[in-house]
Amino acid sequence: MKLWGGRFETGPSEVFERFSGSLHFDRRLIDADIRGSQAFASALERVGILTADERECMIAAFDQIREESHDPQFFDGAEDEDVHTLVIRKLGEKAGGLAAKIHTGRSRNEQVSLDTRLWLREQIDATLGLLDSFLAALLELARRYPDAVIPGYTHTRRAQAVLWPHYILAYFEMFARDRERLGETRARVNVMPLGSGALAGSGFRFDREAMARDLGFDAITRNSMDVSADRDWALDFLHAAATTLLHLSRLAEDWILYSGEEYGWMELGDDVTSGSSLMPQKKNPDSLELIRGKAGRVFGAYSSLFITLKGTPMTYNRDMQEDKEPLFDAADQLAGSLEMARVVVESAKLKPAVPAAAAEDSWMVATDIAETLARSGVPFHSAHQIAGRLVLASLQQGKKPAQWTAEELVAFAPEFRPDMIRSFRPIEGMQTREIPGGTGPLAVAAALEEAEARLRAWRA
Ligand code: ARG
Repeated sequence: MKLWGGRFETGPSEVFERFSGSLHFDRRLIDADIRGSQAFASALERVGILTADERECMIAAFDQIREESHDPQFFDGAEDEDVHTLVIRKLGEKAGGLAAKIHTGRSRNEQVSLDTRLWLREQIDATLGLLDSFLAALLELARRYPDAVIPGYTHTRRAQAVLWPHYILAYFEMFARDRERLGETRARVNVMPLGSGALAGSGFRFDREAMARDLGFDAITRNSMDVSADRDWALDFLHAAATTLLHLSRLAEDWILYSGEEYGWMELGDDVTSGSSLMPQKKNPDSLELIRGKAGRVFGAYSSLFITLKGTPMTYNRDMQEDKEPLFDAADQLAGSLEMARVVVESAKLKPAVPAAAAEDSWMVATDIAETLARSGVPFHSAHQIAGRLVLASLQQGKKPAQWTAEELVAFAPEFRPDMIRSFRPIEGMQTREIPGGTGPLAVAAALEEAEARLRAWRA
């Protein structure tokens, strides 16, 4: 069956049908398409195109189609151009000639926008749930080692000591913004396009607000041409998905390193790692590597839709059918990665003694030493020089911070006082960082509680 054909003398070639058909992927919109069509049937009754009986009959037929569509064989052998055509054909099989009225004053251009919005709204809600579960696991992992000291890095070089929960909370903040981005996307997706017609607005005076209410939308779109032409709400989702995966991929990269032999301060569970077919000793972080890999795939989906839309003239062009595969794939990869990341986090163990020793043995206290001098009145630039010379001398002698005594310190430079030896221990330096957003133990404890409260509020 076709929804068009009168002005053609011959039908489409088999090659063109195969090339242009979208049923193999847009079948995923079938539930949304049915819901939209049921609301549209009510709208048709309100403008007098359908009687109450006809509407009821149609809605019952749609319910039946929905039921049948859960059967895996439902789509077997279907040759319809797209899911919208298939649903109307099925409606005809159930409701007879009545089905010919369902498309009155409606275009597939608005229908595809509606269906995709309905689908994406649900997908976003499910994704938010997955994100929250992942964040809950992350905060639990922070709680498990509240006092653990780890090296913080810049340039992949040991920089300053931080608390483990402080490091985890850095990621929490990134994912909290991702959550916000998904929420903002949802608001832009949740706008009802029906009534726009093909591009010029429907020729029937539908109650658009009523359709929006029926379908749980917050508002109606304001311009019919915009509806046919634009997909920026899908781009918004892809941006939010890509950014979330960007953050996941950085966490994955960290933990691939931290759990490897060269860092050696984390252990990933047996349940999220795999062995080698040749090397018996291997325990590989494949789950994290795949998350890192999926990120690349989703960035590709994002740029693919951007490039598809670029320069397409107003309004609808068939190019836009190419929006769905990247959108679906990105949504699937995001959901899958969040779920996988949660399980990895649940399995992860810190070996606190290893990063603590890394922090003790390296010269990450150099900044604390310089700041201690500055606090006693030495101009910071000179303090920086003195601490730098102290690091150089120590490295030349193979001397670690803990091997310095107060006497040696005072002998090294007259600016030092004996009690300044305390700043040679990472935990002392951290205690000077009790500033909101800093790694001071009290600041971190408060930040952790605050993050937990935020997550509780999101989940409520
Ligand atoms: N399958 C199309 C899409 O995904 C929607 C149908 C509109 N087709 C058309 N030729 N106007 O964009």
